[in-house]
Amino acid sequence: MPLLSIVVPTYNEAENIPILLEEVKKALREINFEMIIVDDDSPDGTAELAEKMREEYPFLKIIRRKNERDLATAVIEGFKNSDGEILAVMDADLQHPPEKIVEMLDKIKEGADIVVGSRYIPGGEIERWSFKRKFYSKGARAIAYLLLPKSREVKDPLSGFFMLRREVIEGVELNPIGYKILLEILIKGRYKKAEEVPIIFRDRERGESSLVFNEYGKYTKHLLRLSWNEGEILRFLKFGLVGISGVFVNEGLLWLFWGTMGVYLALASAVSVELSILWNFIWNEVWTFHDRGKEGITEFFKRMGKFNLVSGVGLLLNVAVLMLLHISFGIYPLTANIAGIAVAFIWNFAANNLWTWFK
Ligand code: GDD
Ligand code: MN
Repeated sequence: MPLLSIVVPTYNEAENIPILLEEVKKALREINFEMIIVDDDSPDGTAELAEKMREEYPFLKIIRRKNERDLATAVIEGFKNSDGEILAVMDADLQHPPEKIVEMLDKIKEGADIVVGSRYIPGGEIERWSFKRKFYSKGARAIAYLLLPKSREVKDPLSGFFMLRREVIEGVELNPIGYKILLEILIKGRYKKAEEVPIIFRDRERGESSLVFNEYGKYTKHLLRLSWNEGEILRFLKFGLVGISGVFVNEGLLWLFWGTMGVYLALASAVSVELSILWNFIWNEVWTFHDRGKEGITEFFKRMGKFNLVSGVGLLLNVAVLMLLHISFGIYPLTANIAGIAVAFIWNFAANNLWTWFK
């Protein structure tokens, strides 16, 4: 029985397979491992080539799928056919440095449940990526952090290079699509300690990336599905409902103070705004984010302060967007205000989620 099973999904990697096998063999001399290549019937003959190389590299297992074409489900298929008590996933195109496998294994032996090969911790790096690609990658991560709090466990939840103890996913129903299989495991897996080792994500020298535009669609679908299951979409909706209720509170109070009690308008408005902010805060505290806040009265007041600050910035954003659209583009103020409200709402949700009620 091997100790470690390395799952390698492939699509048109014939040029890379020989080099990968040699590098992995060299890096893992001392380790009892198997490598499971899961190929989706690549037209370039990846599977046939790998079959031929089995004699020279007896640690190889090859699985060939005929009717499917998806990285994440290929990895799941590899897991199902693995025997090691420790599982790893890596790409075939040598962008993931095989020599890091030993370091990752050491972390597991020291007690980690999951170890991620990370581009985003000190020592980690990406070779030759355009600014645009880096921006997209960080953006995709920010959205994951926002909609899936458990993904905040690591700095690189979208990495395709990682290792885990089998127990983490045993009996867990994994149902990913697209490229981000690690995300699925971080959300659904059973683990205590997730750690990272820095990797230099090398440039692809041979063959072509299979990443097509469709992957963004798959990522969005995957993210929304996970987020819905985790109740995070519901949280977003609750936050929205609280926001709407706040508008009514604000209007009602303004009517009370100014309309019936005759308080000076600016003062009446300021008091109504602040009271509606507090109203929103309380409902978000006991409802939207009830599972998030730290115990204790000081923490409570800290959150109240943060919420006020976030709302203040939101208000400025609202006004800024309204004025910008109106002055620069001549958009009718009531229409421009809708955009302002939308921007402020997104800001408020993101900042409160990632700061006020951060967990
Ligand atoms: N079986 C199978 N089926 N394998 C696939 C498929 C597929 O449909 N599509 C891609 N692969 C294999 C490739 O052959 C390669 O071994 C690996 O999956 C990664 O594919 P690339 O096309 O090279 O992906 P990438 O370099 O753009 O993305 C990698 O880095 C990202 C981080 O930026 C992947 O590791 C991603 O998971 C990772 O998020
Ligand atoms: Mn690649």
